Amino acid sequence: MNHKKTLLITALAIPVLFFQYCNKKDTATDTKTVSEIDLPATPYNYNVTFPQHIAQALPQQDNTPATNPITNDGATLGRVLFYDKSLSINNTIACASCHKQSEGFSDNAIKSLGFAGGTTPRHSMNVLNVRFYRSGRMFWDERAATLEEQVLQPIQNDVEMGMTLPALVTKLSAKTYYPDLFKNAFGTTEVTTDRISKALAQFVRSIVTYQAKYDRVKQGLETFTAQEAQGEQLFLTAGPAACGGCHRPPMFLTSNPAAPFTLLDPADRGINNEGRFKSGSLRNISSVSSLFHNGSVPSLAAMLASNIPAHGVPPQNRAPILAFMQTLNDATIATDVKFSNPFR
Ligand code: HEC
Ligand code: HEC
Repeated sequence: MNHKKTLLITALAIPVLFFQYCNKKDTATDTKTVSEIDLPATPYNYNVTFPQHIAQALPQQDNTPATNPITNDGATLGRVLFYDKSLSINNTIACASCHKQSEGFSDNAIKSLGFAGGTTPRHSMNVLNVRFYRSGRMFWDERAATLEEQVLQPIQNDVEMGMTLPALVTKLSAKTYYPDLFKNAFGTTEVTTDRISKALAQFVRSIVTYQAKYDRVKQGLETFTAQEAQGEQLFLTAGPAACGGCHRPPMFLTSNPAAPFTLLDPADRGINNEGRFKSGSLRNISSVSSLFHNGSVPSLAAMLASNIPAHGVPPQNRAPILAFMQTLNDATIATDVKFSNPFR
């Protein structure tokens, strides 16, 4: 190529490059994408101070690893990921599609709908107070050893979200709203599987109920009715196997589920195929309409009147236990903006 030609090409290229540069500066599309999410200038507080009766249980029950403490920026990123349908291959399903804030972070459907119209084999679990499950094992059959491990599984599940992790990293890296969120949470804009897992786990761990009537009573701010007080006693002590022996206060989780429930579901044998299942927190459970791992029990009242081992109770005990369990409902969880959908 002779010198003249090079000059000519350069001369022609300058306006083209300039035009492209100007086009890049035109941020119309960027602005639109960023405004799809609604986040506060200062992040919400995800490290609240729990009342004494909960704070004192935390050290023995907390499954937060030293490598992933909750930070406000980490949980904020986790919140966006939790509600982002981009986590599914066809942009139709987010974590929140099956863990709905309005349903105590469970699903009102017996089986949840995945990205291609398939349904999950089990009922969605509520994700309340999972931080207090000491062993940290997740799912009805405890197949995930930690929450950090668990949160990546629905993304790759054939029924739920249908993605691969490398494809997800590429996809999220291309979004305009993630670089800043990753930078705030982890120091640099880099999107990695490990960071996605940590942020989702931080958000899920931050979803804790501590503002129910039960909590006000334990703080001496309110009192139980006579029926609720009787229900608490029955819950903690009645029967050959008291409810509270398994579903332990203050979060009403089973830390070591021992009892088989073979009567309920001979087709699904749960943990190690032994007929055992984990139970999530019973707080806010009276607002969930399908109970147990297969969602087969339509309500608490139906459960108490059933013949499910350890769960059917004599008629005179039903109303008091029900009244007590309703005191475990924390209504703030369904409306708290820091747990809500940030996408407009
Ligand atoms: C298509 C529905 C669906 C989607 C999407 C989904 N989940 Fe779930 N989730 C379920 C079901 C069903 C279970 C119970 C499955 C089992 O135990 O076999 C579950 C269980 C869990 C648990 C276990 C709770 C416990 O106490 O052991 C956590 C935590 C959880 N999901 C978080 C998430 C997160 C985070 C996402 C998004 C990355 C997500 N889920 C996406 C349906 C879904
Ligand atoms: C021996 C331990 C044990 C005892 C006693 C027990 N439970 Fe359970 N409970 C479990 C386990 C384990 C599950 C999950 C079983 C499943 O899904 O198949 C469960 C499930 C539940 C559920 C449904 C949870 C959900 O997320 O769908 C409720 C509600 C419940 N129990 C309340 C009670 C009440 C009330 C009592 C007392 C009358 C009681 N339990 C006694 C271990 C126990």
